[in-house]
Amino acid sequence: MKQNNKKIAIYPGSFDPITNGHIDIIKRASLLFDHVIVAVANNEQKRPLFSENERVEMITESIREIPHTTVDSFKGLLVDYARQNNAIAVIRGLRAVSDFEYELQMALVNRKLDEQLITVFLMPHESYSYLNSSIVKELALLNGNIDCFVPEYVKTRLKNKMRKK
Ligand code: PNS
Repeated sequence: MKQNNKKIAIYPGSFDPITNGHIDIIKRASLLFDHVIVAVANNEQKRPLFSENERVEMITESIREIPHTTVDSFKGLLVDYARQNNAIAVIRGLRAVSDFEYELQMALVNRKLDEQLITVFLMPHESYSYLNSSIVKELALLNGNIDCFVPEYVKTRLKNKMRKK
């Protein structure tokens, strides 16, 4: 196992856009690690609503008060990005049993690619267990109330984006 003085974790994801569920996970991770890098995957094949820069901006604004966290984006394999940043762990949120199969598969593939990188699963508060970015986008598109699902700043960005669509 890697022995770094500073324990760095990567929290990777699409974050299209960041939700209160993601923020809950970031807060928990920040209590466990010396530094948490929230890393936006540059996954154009998923056809994200927000550009990589927009997603980075929204996360930066949303987590500015959570200590020892930074925001970045990456292309290519997560394990390579983790290695470049001397990370010892990858954080993933597990909301419900339905997340488990995909998450287990990803964790095992990543472990096959780099056995030193540890995947850590964290559970968000149960009030976020049904929340994801797709639901938030659909609600925003249909003028549903998203007040308790995303920070105010993200809500404004979503509304502006939907207006342009
Ligand atoms: O928020 P998401 O979309 O569930 O995040 C998925 C993500 C970005 C973590 C995953 O797709 C990823 O790690 N992509 C980088 C490419 C990679 O390393 N793939 C192999 C892991 S199975």
